[in-house]
This record gives sequence, C-alpha cells and structure tokens, in this order.
Amino acid sequence: MKYLVGIDVGTSAVKTVLFDENLCKINSVTIEYPLYQPQNGWAEQNPEDWWNATLRSLEKVTQTVDRIDCIGLSGQMHGLVMLDSSGNVLRPAIIWCDQRTEKECAQITDSVGKEKLISITANPALTGFTASKIMWVKNNEPEIYGKCRSILLPKDYIRYKFTGIFASDVSDAGGMQLLDIKKRMFSDEILKLLDIDRELLPNVYESPEITGYVNLKGKFFGTPVVGGAGDNAAAAVGCGVVKESRAFTTIGTSGVVYAHTDKPIIDKKGRVHTFCCAVPGKWHVMGVTQSAGLSLKWFRDNFTPELSYKQMDGLAEKLPIGADNLLFLPYLMGERTPHLDPNARGAFIGISAIHTKAHFIRAILEGVAYSLRDCLEILKEMNVNVTDMCAVGGGSSPFWQKIIAGTFGIPIKSTINSEGAALGVAILAAVGIGLFRDVPSACDKIIQNTAPVFPENCQDYEKIYRIYTSIYPQLKDTCKKLAFMDK
Ligand code: XUL
Repeated sequence: MKYLVGIDVGTSAVKTVLFDENLCKINSVTIEYPLYQPQNGWAEQNPEDWWNATLRSLEKVTQTVDRIDCIGLSGQMHGLVMLDSSGNVLRPAIIWCDQRTEKECAQITDSVGKEKLISITANPALTGFTASKIMWVKNNEPEIYGKCRSILLPKDYIRYKFTGIFASDVSDAGGMQLLDIKKRMFSDEILKLLDIDRELLPNVYESPEITGYVNLKGKFFGTPVVGGAGDNAAAAVGCGVVKESRAFTTIGTSGVVYAHTDKPIIDKKGRVHTFCCAVPGKWHVMGVTQSAGLSLKWFRDNFTPELSYKQMDGLAEKLPIGADNLLFLPYLMGERTPHLDPNARGAFIGISAIHTKAHFIRAILEGVAYSLRDCLEILKEMNVNVTDMCAVGGGSSPFWQKIIAGTFGIPIKSTINSEGAALGVAILAAVGIGLFRDVPSACDKIIQNTAPVFPENCQDYEKIYRIYTSIYPQLKDTCKKLAFMDK
C-alpha cells in the first residue's frame, strides 16, 4: 500500500490529510494559527506558525504508518514570505487579503502599462497579489528588502522547510503577478520593468511534477514533494473540475467561483483572474469575493459568540428571502470581483427596529451569495462555458448552498469526497509518483458527486440581487472618503 499526504496551508489553519493509494482518507488533523491585523486593512501571519502547525499535524496524522510515499502542498495564494541568505524569515508574511498596497499598484501600472500588465499576467495590478507587496517592502522597508535573498509563497515556504529547495508551481506562481500566464514562466519583461531580481524567485514546476525530497531526519526523509497548487486550483482537482464546462464555487475565508478552461481566456477589464491550473498545459478563470466565510465568522465572533454555525443557519432559515428587507455588502476587506476596490467596505442597508440578530445572519448569507453571483455574471460575459457547478469547502452549509443555488439559478452538486484542496494535492502527488496516468483520469476514478441541490425561489433572489448590485456604485465615494479620512 502506498500512502499520500495532502497539506493545505490555509488562512485560519493548516489541514493535513493522510490518504491510501486509492485516495481514501485514513486520517486528518487541523491545527489553527492566528492572523494579525496591525492596521485597518492589513493582514499578516507568522510563517513559523504555519511550519510548526504543519509539522505537528503531519506527525499526528501519520502516527499509524511507518512511511509516506509522496506529499502534495496546497495553500493560501499571493502571500509574501521573504528570507535572508541563511533562510531566516525577515518579516511577517503579508498575506492575500492585506490591502495596504494601493500606491504600489499605481506604481506597477505606471511602470508596466495597464494593457501590457493584463496581457502578460492576465490581471491588473491588485493589492492582494504578491508583486505589489514586494514593491511595498521595497518602498517602505528598504533595509529588509536589501537583506532579502528569496521570495516565496506560503505553501512554498513549507516546501523549503521540508526540502531546502526554492520552488513553486504554475498555479500559485500566477498569483504573484510576475508570471507570463500564457507561457507558464516568470516574465523577464515584467521583472525588468519592476526591477525585481529573477534570482529572488523560485523555480516553477507543473503541479504534478516532483520538485524535491524531504531532507529532515526521521521517517519522512527522502519523501518526494510534488509542485502542488494554490488552494483554488487544488480544490478544483479535489472536486474534479479539470475539464471544460466544469466549475465550482467555494466559501472559505474568501469565496470563489472557478471555471476550468483549456485556453487562457483573459478579461480585458481584469475583473476576474486567469491563472494556470493544476492540469499541465491548462488554465482557469476565477472571480473572488474577499470576505465570504470571513463575514459570517466576523459577525459570530463579535456579536453572537454563543451560537454555532449550525444554530446561526437555524435562525436564518426561519426568515423569508430578503431577511425582511435587510441587505448586506460583504466588503469587509475591500473587494476584488467585480469592483477591484481595496477601499470598499461592508454595509448593512435597510436596518429597521424589527430586525434581530437572525436577520443580520440571513442578510450575510445572502449578501455573500449575491457577491458570488457577481463573479458568475462576469464569467458568462466572457463566454466561459459553465454547465456543471459544484460546491466545495467546509464553509458552505447545506442551507447556504440552497441560497447559492437559488441565487445562481442552476443546480449545484457537491462531492462525496470532502477533503477539498488537501485531496486535490494528494491526487497530484499520486500522479507525480505514477499511480495514475494524468490528473483528469485520476479524478475520473476518484471523485464522486452527490445529487444536486436544485434552485428554488430564483425570481425572489433575482429581484433582491438587482437591488444589491445598485448599492455599491452609490457607496463607492463614501468608502473612499472614509478610507482617507485620517491620512
Ligand atoms: C485567491 C485568493 C484566495 C486565497 C486564500 O486569489 O486570494 O482564495 O488563496 O484562500
């Protein structure tokens, strides 16, 4: 029997899962770590927290086996980890949802030109992406930049700790905004225009390729580590979204609508991301809503800590669609799709004295679903063919999925295999060591779907969605004024 491990370095926790060679789960361990917000709109984590949690979870999850045969790594995308010449972390990682780099985005757009940037990296300069974070450190912490010898993404820091090798994979590297998305390699032109030394960046592999071998003493020594994938590309493999016309939506801290494409299809306005996917030679398009699960967690932590998520669903389910005329905009950490606005902020609209905490919960569940619908609308506008939609990830409960199906107006299925990104990278590991011919044929054998949730009450959701889309344009300037009030 062969054993595969999938490790997903998420925003709130690392999840490590041990699978057998048929990709049946043997054991899973999740260990949480903190997120630091030293200023409004900033978000940082300590890479050592990721590593300690990874190692502890790996040791725990593999207690019943005496060796493992391959490791696949997945993780939150875009985060900036900087190392000095001895491999020490130079500063806390600036992670994907950090919004401090608006000035640097303008600088990148000026240096490269908006059209060229979109045509090479498939995205306009974005505060969430790694390039603007690198420029921020260069501008604001020149001493640290001067000492920096390696730049890594979160999961690739874990790879470095395992193997001593500086490597990434095409799906995650695309989120750095330094990759030529069509050529699947770093763009010398972009690097030159931004004055970033290629030597600082890792080597880039396709996701199922072996990148190196564990060099820690003990039972993991010599285990191969494959390229792996950014969390969304990994989740796509974990739910079989590896062929044209297939798509998934997920609610984690952020929310995503992701569609596989055989060709690189780019939105000229840059409202959704086009990245390489974990199937060698293929791509995906995805829209991202910054605060999906985060919105509900924020509300629970601050206002209803006594409630479980199940109890929150229970309260919301008793209310009518529209939460008795209460709407929520989930822009707690700015917004990407469709607004690309780091200054956008959340809002409840229509608060009345009849509203209770249950109304606020229902409004949040619906607001996040409308924001995901915004993502789907752009994919449609780009003629990305989506006939098959799957919901993945622990974030969306059956009740939330029902709201999303009604809002999207299409059936949404789930997978029986519920390990998401961790399963996705374990499949990549299995392909990497030759247990399957390629990623799509592995998924055909492994992934099983549930019966779909059929959309209900679509007209009611549609009516409210139309009102929802009219709110942001009216609040945009106010949010900007608020953002700059004390500067
Ligand atoms: C994708 C993105 C998030 C993070 C965190 O572009 O920023 O999905 O990967 O999960």
